[in-house]
Amino acid sequence: MNSKRLLSVASFIDNNDKLIDVGCDHGYLGIYLKKNNKCKDLLLTDLRESALSNAINNIKKYNLDIKVLKTDGLNNIDLDKYNCISICGMGTSNIIDILSKLKNNNSIKKLIIQSNNDLDILRKNINNLGYNLDDEITIKENDIFYVICKFVKSNKKLDNNTILFGINKEDKKEYYHYLLDYYNNILDKIPLDNKDREDIIQKINIIEKM
Ligand SMILES: C[S@@+](CC[C@H](N)C(=O)[O-])C[C@H]1O[C@@H](n2cnc3c(N)ncnc32)[C@H](O)[C@@H]1O
Repeated sequence: MNSKRLLSVASFIDNNDKLIDVGCDHGYLGIYLKKNNKCKDLLLTDLRESALSNAINNIKKYNLDIKVLKTDGLNNIDLDKYNCISICGMGTSNIIDILSKLKNNNSIKKLIIQSNNDLDILRKNINNLGYNLDDEITIKENDIFYVICKFVKSNKKLDNNTILFGINKEDKKEYYHYLLDYYNNILDKIPLDNKDREDIIQKINIIEKM
């Protein structure tokens, strides 16, 4: 597998993890994990028949034995058999919707999430579900920034800056510069009397400190 993004996701999986990869599509993450004995149990799911048959063909190419299931989100899955869920390459509202099934669940201790948008809303909602942001990996692939978030079961509440901009690590440097340019560009374009300016200025100040 040569996707830096999916390799970063895989680096958060441990040998003892029993993982559900929701929205597996091609199945590359699961195939990499299985081939390299990186987890104890594995279930690949997808909503779309075509995605699953793609995954099944790829699994066959490597002669691997991996469970697959066509289902919407976490429906029809015995969650008690797993301790970890990965959801990558989807939008935040879809991810939050899928994870809402975890409200009364105790077996899923770890979530590895790579959302395509609204990371602040993602962090806040997953934190409210009873998971703390434990680590993040930020990478740039094909000129796009990806933040891969690892959450672990905990009632610890995230502070506002972490919700907005994530864990302040060395690998965020280029990403934060990108965000600064992004918000400064918006600020340049909106009129001086626009009420949104205050919010953007506040965000710029936080990123500059980070
Ligand atoms: C862009 S692909 C990402 C594939 C892979 N996870 C990755 O990161 O490379 C998103 C996949 O999620 C699937 N998907 C979207 N909503 C879903 C849901 N509610 N339940 C299961 N799969 C879903 C889509 O069918 C698609 O195959």
